[in-house]
Amino acid sequence: MNLKEILSKASSEHWAIGHFNVSNLEQIKAVVGAAKKSNAPVMIGTSEGERNWFGLENIVALVESFKNEWPNIFLNADHTKTVSAAHDAVNAGYTSIHFDGSALSALENTSKTKQVVDYAKSKNSEISVEGELGYVKGESQITGKKVELKPSDYTNPEEAEDFVKSTGVDRLAIAIGNIHGINIDEPKLDFDRLAEIRKAVPENIAIVLHAGSGISDEDIKRAISSGVSNIHISTELRVAFREGMEESLKDNPKEYAPYKLDAQIVEDMEKLIVEKIRLFGSDGKMV
Ligand code: G3H
Ligand code: ZN
Repeated sequence: MNLKEILSKASSEHWAIGHFNVSNLEQIKAVVGAAKKSNAPVMIGTSEGERNWFGLENIVALVESFKNEWPNIFLNADHTKTVSAAHDAVNAGYTSIHFDGSALSALENTSKTKQVVDYAKSKNSEISVEGELGYVKGESQITGKKVELKPSDYTNPEEAEDFVKSTGVDRLAIAIGNIHGINIDEPKLDFDRLAEIRKAVPENIAIVLHAGSGISDEDIKRAISSGVSNIHISTELRVAFREGMEESLKDNPKEYAPYKLDAQIVEDMEKLIVEKIRLFGSDGKMV
């Protein structure tokens, strides 16, 4: 199944495919290991910073090679801010593009998202493209900050309906109180707004919840039962990486072989991803 087929299955069966951001080999190993153990489809995401760190061709080739181990992996060019960066990712072989025009005016966001959709589909009919409407604030860090949201940051259901129609996107990233990173306050999701967006947007368009870190398990389950079929996690995985690394260095003060220090880190991250996959209900879906 391609990503669009998996997303449509997820949406009709009320579960969500997990999207995990990576910036090193250890994180890729953890995502693939967890997906394989859980018989789950997964998305591997790289923001512009993350993919520039790898090199576009390198990350595509790496993920391709891991498909021999577990084929149900989809590589997403996450939070792509310019049309040319989106074209580069399409040309490099990404199977999914997220064009994030949330900082642009509504008109510009619509027109640039459409340009990306048209280009991507002309190159690969199976590619899945995501657009974003509303402003998901924050950054994938433990910020220790309070993040204030304005009413205009939230996705407007009527605008969402028009945006999806005019752009031809397959997925829509929404802002309903979700904030990137782990901040002082636990995010408060606006479930009434989510219900209105789900009603306004055609069923075959997947609703994406970014900024999954720090959202309670209960709210994640409620978001899925209200129509979210794709959830992004980065900060919690970064935390697991950093804490695993600190632990590993402390436990092995005389070890200098990176792969030996890495084993524990990968195991800790894998454990976290297995838990998320179970929470999202995507385990056992690729048997
Ligand atoms: O696109 C990336 C995600 O939205 C990650 O958000 O760091 O809050 O988990 P997070
Ligand atoms: Zn995001």
